[in-house]
Amino acid sequence: MILKRFLSVKPPFVPLTTEGFTETIGNTPLIKLPKISSRINRNVYAKAEFMNPGGSIKDRAALYVIKDAESRGLIKPGGTVIEGTAGNTGIGLAHVCRSRGYKCVIYMPNTQAKSKMDTLRLLGAEVHPVPAVAFDNPENYNHQAKRHADSLENAVWTNQFDNTANRQAHIETTGPEIWAQLNGKVDGFTCSTGTGGTFAGITRYLKTISNDKTKCVLADPPGSIVHSYIQSKGKDIVRGGSSFTEGIGQGRITENLQPEIDIIDDSYKIPDEESIVMLYQLLDEEGIYVGGTSALNVVAAIRLAQELPEGSNVVTVLADSCHKYSDRIFSKSWLESKGLYDAIPESLKKYASLD
Ligand SMILES: Cc1ncc(COP(=O)(O)O)c(C=O)c1O
Repeated sequence: MILKRFLSVKPPFVPLTTEGFTETIGNTPLIKLPKISSRINRNVYAKAEFMNPGGSIKDRAALYVIKDAESRGLIKPGGTVIEGTAGNTGIGLAHVCRSRGYKCVIYMPNTQAKSKMDTLRLLGAEVHPVPAVAFDNPENYNHQAKRHADSLENAVWTNQFDNTANRQAHIETTGPEIWAQLNGKVDGFTCSTGTGGTFAGITRYLKTISNDKTKCVLADPPGSIVHSYIQSKGKDIVRGGSSFTEGIGQGRITENLQPEIDIIDDSYKIPDEESIVMLYQLLDEEGIYVGGTSALNVVAAIRLAQELPEGSNVVTVLADSCHKYSDRIFSKSWLESKGLYDAIPESLKKYASLD
């Protein structure tokens, strides 16, 4: 009798992994944001990338750049993977390296949250925090990472910004997952870009499979040139400004983004004030605890949804959770130092509970 009852229950889908840890990357849920969706009469869906084993969407790129280096014979067992990364790619790489037996060396700007550096070290990576200087400076963290790889035997600089194995991860996994999860009813897609791999890969897949019907819009934070590049078709690049978001914004068009530049439908510049309010609102209304880039993405998804007919489905990405940033984002004094505290509505200020 009891057995019969259990047999009639449909078991949850829990994948069996046979090749180890790296198979747990991807296949994330697509979450409908019910409160936001009902308010605007359009469906806003967000890909729960914070559920990847390393905690962010960058696990996908990390796996693909390492698989690419292996398949091209650039790295052999016991070798060293070296990358310049503001954090999340490093965490993904550190995990993948441990599980595949490689050493991991990470260069990053010393302006990044200390907890990110600590996590990388705990995961066994060698971390080099270096001064945050522009890409055209030879001491930029990416150039230092490349030089380090050039100086070692059996070492690869995975070069996430311009290595298109990064966008390939999203052409082969994230894009098809989104399309399958919505049975092909994807009217709009938007997200922000750092390397551009996520936006470019998903856009390429959705544009191809939908015969160009899915509207794809790039979302940009303050301080990034990409929005001005797209709006002016490369003629009027506006520099300057900064954002509290970490991991997005770009001073150039990367090789990952370049192939998509002509098929992007539009771009938005999202002010920090809107992103921080959305971050608090997502926690308050939807119970979702995500970092600044995810909040920016949802602001952009709502904007895109409102440009589309009622009932449309718009998808974006929740790139990581807020754990790494909580000591800043929920600190009243930090918010005040960034001029963001006053942007938060009175009803949500209770969440800014750290000093
Ligand atoms: C939290 C977060 N969001 C978004 C991005 C941007 O993703 P991509 O590099 O694929 O453009 C990153 C990149 O590191 C990130 O760490």
